[in-house]
Amino acid sequence: MQNVIAIDGPAASGKSTIARMVAEKFHVPYINTGNMYRAVTLYALQKHIDPDCGMAREKLSVILPQLQLDYVENKEGKLELEMNGALVADSIRGPEVTESVSQISSIPEVREFLVAKQREFASRGLIVMEGRDIGTVVFPEAKYKFFLTASPEVRAKRRLAQGGEIAAGSTVESVAAEIAARDEMDMKRKISPLRKAEDAILIDSSELNIEQVIEKISSYINK
Ligand code: DC
Repeated sequence: MQNVIAIDGPAASGKSTIARMVAEKFHVPYINTGNMYRAVTLYALQKHIDPDCGMAREKLSVILPQLQLDYVENKEGKLELEMNGALVADSIRGPEVTESVSQISSIPEVREFLVAKQREFASRGLIVMEGRDIGTVVFPEAKYKFFLTASPEVRAKRRLAQGGEIAAGSTVESVAAEIAARDEMDMKRKISPLRKAEDAILIDSSELNIEQVIEKISSYINK
């Protein structure tokens, strides 16, 4: 059994907010693995690698070993992602990275590189880890597994209210279309596609508020 509370689910399902709050409630560290895929995407863009070009995989594989990614503890004891020694800025949540992250995360060498790092974290004690494949691939023996989802419309409205990842002039329809396209790529990719682990607890948050979702998750952990 691995010392992990795994929270998986599609884009904008509320995973990050919920995972952060569950970690706070149980006084354990929290890792957002989407940020790691986003950091690699930013790195690729900085190195002028076009994610759509046929050579992207080869080019990125060559420079990936030079990328240093670490989660370091800040003054409040929270883990923050550092890329080559500097804290990653909000740029990893911008529309340019969001647009390319699914392509970059379908590259096998990128997944191997990041999964190995993610597994290192679980050796330190109980941890909340959030992503797409935590309960299925990274920690199939996780102590607790949750799969969070919500209807496409609810997810688009939440993302729109949140801002950040969306382009200027976005509407509920355009955000819903962007989310649907990313879900499709994440679900259809050959390795580690987004899917619910058979033994994960499904939570549809379309009609639940944050407190109710936390309550549900906590009731399983406290059992
Ligand atoms: O959670 P997020 O939207 O920030 O994740 C960004 C992308 O990273 C997502 O579209 C797919 C990828 N990802 C992944 O492939 N595996 C994970 N464990 C986490 C994220």
